[in-house]
Amino acid sequence: MRPARNVRGSVQLPGDKSISHRYAMLAGLAEGPSRIENYSTGADCASTLGCMRTLGVVWDRKVDQTNVIEVRGSGMSLAAPSAALDCGNSGSTMRMLSGIVAAQPFSSEMTGDESLSRRPMQRVIHPLSTMGAQISSRDGKPPLRINGAQLKAIDYEMPVASAQVKSCLLFAGLFAEGETRILEPLRTRDHGEVALLAFGAKLEKRSVGQGSKVRIRGGQRLRGIEARVPGDLSSAAFFLCAAALFPGSKLAIPHLLMNPTRARLLDILMQMGLKISVTQLDEVNGELVGSLQIEGGSLKGATIAGGDSAALIDEIPVLAAIAPYTETGIEVRDAKELRVKESDRIAAIAKNLQRMGAKVEEREDGLRIPGGQELNGTELDSFGDHRIAMAFAVAALRANGDTLIKGSESAAISYPAFFHTLEELTER
Ligand code: S3P
Repeated sequence: MRPARNVRGSVQLPGDKSISHRYAMLAGLAEGPSRIENYSTGADCASTLGCMRTLGVVWDRKVDQTNVIEVRGSGMSLAAPSAALDCGNSGSTMRMLSGIVAAQPFSSEMTGDESLSRRPMQRVIHPLSTMGAQISSRDGKPPLRINGAQLKAIDYEMPVASAQVKSCLLFAGLFAEGETRILEPLRTRDHGEVALLAFGAKLEKRSVGQGSKVRIRGGQRLRGIEARVPGDLSSAAFFLCAAALFPGSKLAIPHLLMNPTRARLLDILMQMGLKISVTQLDEVNGELVGSLQIEGGSLKGATIAGGDSAALIDEIPVLAAIAPYTETGIEVRDAKELRVKESDRIAAIAKNLQRMGAKVEEREDGLRIPGGQELNGTELDSFGDHRIAMAFAVAALRANGDTLIKGSESAAISYPAFFHTLEELTER
């Protein structure tokens, strides 16, 4: 990566990863066909489609600009898999799909790559076992062997704020006897709830303190939908932060996801000095979308803590990577979950920033990165983590000298065209 002088242009983002996973799973369960445009191009969402095929769901995919998938729904009855469900690098696939297979009258094995095999699954094993599934694991980690059962609804207070776990339990709740009630301690992305409603399910949701409570009755059926997945806001984050680095930058991002449970990044970047205006706000299948115009200004610092850390969990790596260039730095607290993502993201951020010559204080649940620092281009590691690779590609834009990111191909997990698009948007 060479340093840049500016960032300018217009970028249309591939479909949001979180929504694509959920649409593929629910379309596979629904009655009738679904047509989903702008499906995520990332390898993670391909893992979900692969698992659905192993579960007998028929789908077809057009790999062109429209990225359409057409899914023939199974009418709530999946086929016993003849092979393991390979979730690749995708925690979302394993956690959310476990809720569906736990309710089927067959057993399934769920496997993943080396990184996924290190990630905690007890958070889904425990509640799904309470609902009646039998699950064995390697000490709470993948591979999972799930013996499906007729599940019974539970009333569950989630110990960790996780949208993947919430969706897992809502999907399991669709098949359970009785009403499943889930209380999340902090508000997390609500794409599972929004997608279920779009596919015709009924559920109730209300705010409770800083979190929310969702209730869903079992025995419901879904119907197929026609949808266009909004552009991925967590992928847009890299370009937004790149634009924030240059006072004269100008970017346009049409048809971007604006769901309020995901858009906290925009508030934070505006507080830091980025000018953002949103036009053409619209609601598509319950998801808010809009077109963004962005202009770089000053770059103040920020503190990310409490509910913000949960809301910004996927955007913290790139915010932290640009922190040294801010006026007063960035402090991240209450973000211990970052340690159990595709890599230990707190350690990965600290190591890469230090290699670039920055002062960083690494803490158990976050980081403190002082502002007003210059970074030097050098050899960095992606730690096999897509968001670390992309975050440091952004940091490299204002470094002194060139930067090499080992394992940068991991960007393909969520955004295969990332480096190509970044190159098109940067002026040297
Ligand atoms: C996601 C939820 C978050 C996020 C992940 C996608 C989702 O994970 O980090 O990239 O689609 O529900 P957690 O549920 O572990 O917080």
